[in-house]
Amino acid sequence: MKKLYFGSNLKMYKTIENTVNYLTELENLTKDISRDEIQMFIIPSYTTLDRASKAVDHKNIIIGAQNMHWEEEGQFTGEISPIMLKEVGCDLVMIGHSERRHVFNETDEEENKKVLSAINHGFIALLCIGETAEQKENGISAEILREQLKIGLHGTSVENIPQIWVAYEPVWSIGVNGTPATADYAEEMHVVIKDCLKELYGDRYEEIPVLYGGSVNPGNADELIQQPSIDGLFIGRAAWQADKFNPLIRSAIESARKVNK
Ligand code: PGA
Repeated sequence: MKKLYFGSNLKMYKTIENTVNYLTELENLTKDISRDEIQMFIIPSYTTLDRASKAVDHKNIIIGAQNMHWEEEGQFTGEISPIMLKEVGCDLVMIGHSERRHVFNETDEEENKKVLSAINHGFIALLCIGETAEQKENGISAEILREQLKIGLHGTSVENIPQIWVAYEPVWSIGVNGTPATADYAEEMHVVIKDCLKELYGDRYEEIPVLYGGSVNPGNADELIQQPSIDGLFIGRAAWQADKFNPLIRSAIESARKVNK
């Protein structure tokens, strides 16, 4: 039985109170699901992190930050450092989310500095990658994913594997204007990603979870999680209410077990 990963990025939504209530409800609703079976994670906004981290048992739900500067301190007005994120109880740092790359123009080289710093400071580095609609149109999705992985993970080694997670989130599939990837297309890209991870790390590549994200919803979650190379679902809108996220998770687990995952 493979461990399945379920998590959500709350983006720039929810106040402190809303976040704490959401996490408390989500933890209560999902408490009975064995954590040998699933790994849950929630990535709320910076200002909520201190309270969010104290609101849950991290054995049930780990807490992540949406971004991080790679330096420990310095003249970087408006940035948050790894030391600050440790202080507020973060377990994971998301790096290179599509909105960071495309709204805030972050580069693969910057994502790489963040990945290395996150790993050095003991976090799980969740590296997000994905091609744009234009790149897909031009038939270079695989090349783009390989490039983002090879630059983003440059300088990491086999020993870092327990601290590396990857999320495949095609840019064209994310958010209100996004179209979800078909399960077949997502699987095809996950195979590209896994092959590249194998090149980088050898046989232990299988320990790195590769999650799909981008317009996951109750209508497509089951089919996506049934794909052999999709290890988890990384969800935005469809996960922001605990009472909707909980049934989605349960249904996905059941579907995955049906195909002996
Ligand atoms: P979405 O967001 O599920 O609302 O499309 C996904 C993401 O941005 O991670």
